[in-house]
Amino acid sequence: MSDSNPITIVIFGGSGDLARRKLFPALFNLYGKEQLPTPFHIVGAASSPRSDEELRTILCKGVMEAAGQDFDEEQWSAFAQQIVYAQIDLTQPRDFARLKEQLQTLEQGSANRLYHLAVDPEYFMPAVNNLQASGLHQADAGWRRLVIEKPFGHDLASAQELNQCIEAVFPEGEVFRIDHYLGKETAQNILFLRFANLIFEPLWNANYIDNVQISVVENVDVGERARYYDHSGVLRDMFQNHLLQLLSLIAMEPPASFDADAVRDEKVKVLKSILPVAIDETVRGQYHGYRQAQYVAADSQTATYAALKVQIDNWRWQGVPFYLRSGKGLAEKSSEIVIEFKRPPHLMFALPPAQKLTPNILYICIQPDEGIHLQFEAKEPGSLQATATVDLEFHYRTSFKDSVLADAYERLLLDAIHGDATLFTRRDGIEAAWRVIDPILQGWQGEDAPPLASYEPGSWGPATADALLARTGRAWRHGCCEHEA
Ligand code: BG6
Repeated sequence: MSDSNPITIVIFGGSGDLARRKLFPALFNLYGKEQLPTPFHIVGAASSPRSDEELRTILCKGVMEAAGQDFDEEQWSAFAQQIVYAQIDLTQPRDFARLKEQLQTLEQGSANRLYHLAVDPEYFMPAVNNLQASGLHQADAGWRRLVIEKPFGHDLASAQELNQCIEAVFPEGEVFRIDHYLGKETAQNILFLRFANLIFEPLWNANYIDNVQISVVENVDVGERARYYDHSGVLRDMFQNHLLQLLSLIAMEPPASFDADAVRDEKVKVLKSILPVAIDETVRGQYHGYRQAQYVAADSQTATYAALKVQIDNWRWQGVPFYLRSGKGLAEKSSEIVIEFKRPPHLMFALPPAQKLTPNILYICIQPDEGIHLQFEAKEPGSLQATATVDLEFHYRTSFKDSVLADAYERLLLDAIHGDATLFTRRDGIEAAWRVIDPILQGWQGEDAPPLASYEPGSWGPATADALLARTGRAWRHGCCEHEA
């Protein structure tokens, strides 16, 4: 099998929201950068009857919106010629038999194939089973790979069932479970910050770090996704995947190489070292007005906000709290990681006591102002011994002026095409993450569940989330967007 074969990318859910907003714009950009293998075909598969031309028109709109002023019409016309439509009911084996014939006619010989499941999760297993029943999973001179979107299961049991179903059809090395946070440049940079530099790693442990905070906050409400969201809630939607993935990048040991399994082994070890989260160290909230959204139950208990205190039970992180928070309907859209260092043990200056000094803080800004800020103390000019808090800042937009940060999907699709699974979640990683989240979900159903705190849209979430840190004299930090150069 060779990467120089022609390739066919089959996108199930080929006219859906994700395909229009993310997948096709990413594929079009890769085409523009001449990074797609040639020759290639893209098959958009969905349930409605429509022609190739109708699909292309639908997709063009999404690509134009994503490209803005940079949209190149001529390039689109050439790219669009390679897109065809396939009508398919994912529960019907005969439709897969028809797809098989369509692919054979299109490819005229052997080709590599990437099957991308961008459909509702209830169709994941039927689609995988039908790929097998039709023989579409079978490699010949070309490989067969499966890309699968989240949500990967609803809980541990359903994730295991899905994993078993996939494992029976595709070898793990050909399965690419997407967590788009891992495709973000700034998330990838965590490994470079830590392991391509010397100065941080010696301090990266319980001796010097007081606490770590991971915040992924959104100002949007659930919008048109309420039907999905009301059954999911913030823990399944954001914590089981994105937040725990960011945590594992921050907390993992250095892998021996930048190889998919070496990196994922270390990440999984972190997830497996997380202690059961104490229910009284969790906060759940719901923004005011959520229950009025269409498809949301009038008495919905779904959390649109959560904050957790997570402890990692290993040598490096003993006693260091990791505070995680995420929610919708909040004050802004930003994702950042805060590493708060301990204060100096002894002060030779006539300053407030050491415990009152502002600690050194490293802010890793995932979005929107991508970069890294290091906050430290400096002598205030003209004063005898007073200090002021100052920042060393790195911004992608100023340090890498000419390079636009590519959308996460560009990188992830390209990696799947090249068979590099480093930025994808492995089976054991998915299950380890559910082992952290499942007991919290269960705890939230029980007698000791924290109250579902209501918060105002546009705020920073429930006051109980501040109280969670205040118990130990700490506070949420927010530094990335406030200190722009
Ligand atoms: C998705 C969630 O995985 O991530 C959404 O399902 C959320 O609810 C989105 O809005 C956030 O991603 P980003 O890249 O916009 O931070």
